[in-house]
Amino acid sequence: MESSMNVAVIGAGAMGSGIAQVAAQAGHSVLLMDARPGAAQRAVDAIRETLNKLAEKGRLTPTEAAEAGARLQAVGAVTELAGPGLVIEAIVEDLSAKRELFTRLESVVDPDCVLATNTSSLSVTAIAGACAHPERVIGLHFFNPAPLMPLVEVVPGLATAPGLAERCGLWMGRWSKVPVVCKDTPGFIVNRVARPFYGEALRILEEGLADMATIDHAMRTVGGFRMGPFELMDLIGNDVNFAVTRSVFEAFFFDPRYRPSLTQQRQVESGRLGRKTGRGYYDHTGTTTPPIPKNDPELLDMVFLRILVMLINEAADALYLGIADRAALELAMTKGVNYPKGLLGWADEIGLDRCLSMLQGLQTEYGEDRYRPSPLLRRLVREGRTFHG
Ligand code: NAI
Repeated sequence: MESSMNVAVIGAGAMGSGIAQVAAQAGHSVLLMDARPGAAQRAVDAIRETLNKLAEKGRLTPTEAAEAGARLQAVGAVTELAGPGLVIEAIVEDLSAKRELFTRLESVVDPDCVLATNTSSLSVTAIAGACAHPERVIGLHFFNPAPLMPLVEVVPGLATAPGLAERCGLWMGRWSKVPVVCKDTPGFIVNRVARPFYGEALRILEEGLADMATIDHAMRTVGGFRMGPFELMDLIGNDVNFAVTRSVFEAFFFDPRYRPSLTQQRQVESGRLGRKTGRGYYDHTGTTTPPIPKNDPELLDMVFLRILVMLINEAADALYLGIADRAALELAMTKGVNYPKGLLGWADEIGLDRCLSMLQGLQTEYGEDRYRPSPLLRRLVREGRTFHG
């Protein structure tokens, strides 16, 4: 893709603004459009302010900031999108709204314009299904905040033209992003593989095996994660995190592995959404003393390993089912959600037989399909192999 080619971004909210900034910094003229009157212009002004701040901090030269800012233009309607080579949609997460927009776009843009969706939970195939030419539709799933998070999941739908994913991957590389190609399945890579980070932590809490401060402490100190599950759910917002879990669970036809937690549902119902409401699992108003974790090494190890093997099992199954290749799975979790290591490499480190016997132990203990080990993990252990050899 030539940097002289226009890019259009539709939806000037958190994600659309971030993506527009990234595209402008990569040298493209960017048209930003939003259905709310004035929203696109406000977003352009805010991005220019961000670029100026980056220049003040020395991350960009004043010329780079001014040039990137000048490449952005707000437009009021889809019909004003003159000749983009790539459109990235980041509007409301609603299938019928997205299908309607894509249909309208098809009547406006050139036949060779690529139409991308930033959806995080809808099927790319379903969005493309509304189009006369679904072969030019693809998912480009950025992470929040888009200018800072390197990962982009590149998701071809069922009818996407062969080769388009590779082309989009090259473009994303030129935008200084780390692209990973994955199949159009619920949660793509990151939102699928990361589910047990929250779900198994909630389960351990519900069973009274450890309190949330201890679980968070275990994941940070033993696991090296930047945040524990409860701290992270409070940061993401329990409403948002619960909605993702629910949508993945429903999209997998209620596979018990992804079952949402009643504990989290009650948090949402009570309005304890996390930092944004001052109260989630923790009190964020600074008026109460934070809970103190238990410093019992055996307990911390138990908690960490139980969550880790569930994450590993998800990654193993994603590899087994061909959702993405090994390298993509490792990159996705380290570049999309800052995991300290790729899960497959981590599994090799701690030993696949150990992972398998922990999962089998949990499955026997609880008698639940939730803990069923991935067939790939079983096979590798049987054959004495690792994920990397
Ligand atoms: P947002 O609510 O901040 O922004 C959405 C914007 O789209 C709003 O400004 C709204 O006025 C506009 N809009 C709604 N319908 C429109 C239409 N028909 N035509 C034009 N503009 C329209 O939402 P956010 O968080 O930026 O998410 C946007 C998309 O990105 C969603 O599909 C979401 O699932 C996805 N996403 C969100 C992430 C996040 O962490 N917030 C991460 C990755 C993807």
